Amino acid sequence: MTDRRADYERDGFLVLERFLDDASCDALIERAGEIVRAFSPETYSIFTTREQTRRTDDYFLESGDQIRCFFEEDAFDASGALVRPVEQAINKIGHALHDLDPVFARVSRDPRLAALAASLGLERPLLLQSMYIFKQPFIGGEVTSHQDHTFLWTDPPSAVGFWLALEDATLDNGCLWALPGGHAEPPRGRFHRTPGGGTAYEVLDERPLPEAGMVPLPAPKGTCIVLHGLLPHRSGPNRSPRSRQAYSLHVIDARAAYRADNWLQRRPELPLRGF
Ligand code: FE2
Repeated sequence: MTDRRADYERDGFLVLERFLDDASCDALIERAGEIVRAFSPETYSIFTTREQTRRTDDYFLESGDQIRCFFEEDAFDASGALVRPVEQAINKIGHALHDLDPVFARVSRDPRLAALAASLGLERPLLLQSMYIFKQPFIGGEVTSHQDHTFLWTDPPSAVGFWLALEDATLDNGCLWALPGGHAEPPRGRFHRTPGGGTAYEVLDERPLPEAGMVPLPAPKGTCIVLHGLLPHRSGPNRSPRSRQAYSLHVIDARAAYRADNWLQRRPELPLRGF
């Protein structure tokens, strides 16, 4: 077993600095900016009208094979008006950038990423989900501790996250935190679709995820952080004047069974593919 795999199996994560070169980081930042600038006002009315729960649910649930923009919670005032320019109000873009956008597809299917996945034991990798995360200056929302397996459930667990820092991620602008060895924790819950058309969070284990022992993972631009699907991790809010943009790609193993009621589903014309 390689040292890298042994570290991953012990800690549940890896921090690989200088994985992506600056030009690739900048190309993704540039492309994400273009996607946001093309984002139509009719689409974001979904978030601003009241009686909106069903529409925002559908907008999210149908995004597994689309490229869609999602707002920061603090981007609107009480009347539903945007409080800052749209480019500074988007929380993330998801969830099929890796299949639908050529710039993201190229980085997502980089042979080095494929080699890294193989070195960690993913024998038949499928690229499941991609997210571009802005962590905007001042209003970048916190992400509370969770296990990605909760959202990307396979039997047995197989989800692995590759989190690429496109800008320096620091304690000030909301870097990741993770619990070394925490991937031994059983899953606390499962987020899934419900027959009525919405979603539910099903509690599987009442115990909160441990907070003690969580360590920050500051990541210079170009760093790849690998996260085991059961590893508890979180990130703080960004109250700093600097964004903390990142691209996150989740891969599962085709040998594991993907649940039919997972929130993320693909239309048959766009099946999951490997690297
Ligand atoms: Fe996560």
